[in-house]
Amino acid sequence: MNKISPLAAMEMQGASISYNGKPVLEGLDFLISEKKVTGIVGPSGSGKSTLLRTLCRMNDRVPGFHVQGRIRVGGKDIYEKGMDVYHLRRKVGMVFQSPCVFPKSIFENVVFALKRLRPHLKNEFAHIAEQAFREVFLWEEVKDRLHKPASILSLGQQQRLAIARSLVIQPEILLMDEPTSSLDPESSEAIEELIAELKTRHTIALVTHNLSQAKRVADDLIFLRQGRIWESGPTARMFENPSRPETRDYLIRRTDLEFA
Ligand SMILES: Nc1ncnc2c1ncn2[C@@H]1O[C@H](COP(=O)(O)OP(=O)(O)OP(=O)(O)O)[C@@H](O)[C@H]1O
Ligand SMILES: [Mg+2]
Repeated sequence: MNKISPLAAMEMQGASISYNGKPVLEGLDFLISEKKVTGIVGPSGSGKSTLLRTLCRMNDRVPGFHVQGRIRVGGKDIYEKGMDVYHLRRKVGMVFQSPCVFPKSIFENVVFALKRLRPHLKNEFAHIAEQAFREVFLWEEVKDRLHKPASILSLGQQQRLAIARSLVIQPEILLMDEPTSSLDPESSEAIEELIAELKTRHTIALVTHNLSQAKRVADDLIFLRQGRIWESGPTARMFENPSRPETRDYLIRRTDLEFA
């Protein structure tokens, strides 16, 4: 029952999450496989963001937040006493719905975390930053204005910048909470292509309301409903042959509506 799965980048066993004594998610049992994209879908308020934030201990300071059960990242229980949260932050990067750029230059945004976490690499910052910009297909668009404020970039460029900023610390895992919901179709497509490329080196958990996107980019799917994992499994199977009628209703009816 409490076996650690070798290919699980992240895993919960019998986990429950509550705010102020009120359970939001209960009886969570799942594993997220290495170097795959796992989509997390479900109605608004079903706990998708809470789940992601729990996986990188981002809710530690939220008053009334409580977790129970086993929550492992890379085989280690991340809520164990004495757990090094800074080590976890280097392992797990997070990308938010609205591009989170700092009021600094394009270059400074990307080297921000490096300055704090890898100061000894100072002489290599320019090279590492260039690699990260190239990885998110942003280099050609920014190489001549690296020291201009990041705020001059379009939203889609800002989101790629935010992803580049997460990548410089070489996290094994990327948690993305609706990364394309504030973007136009072209920028969304660019991020989707980027996700497909990134999964060759990273494990990705992607929260999305866009079911066609989940179908296109997620290898596995977790469907949250009424505070539980209603169903999970390979994305193709979930869409083609869901086990529960509510899954069919949510995935298939909503995907049809997106195309209507
Ligand atoms: N800081 C908080 N304090 C108390 N309750 C919270 C807090 N954050 C979230 N909740 C509650 O937990 C539940 C799940 O919220 P969460 O933001 O995880 O949902 P979600 O699935 O991400 O929704 P959406 O699709 O709208 O982003 C909701 O009922 C929400 O009101
Ligand atoms: Mg959310």
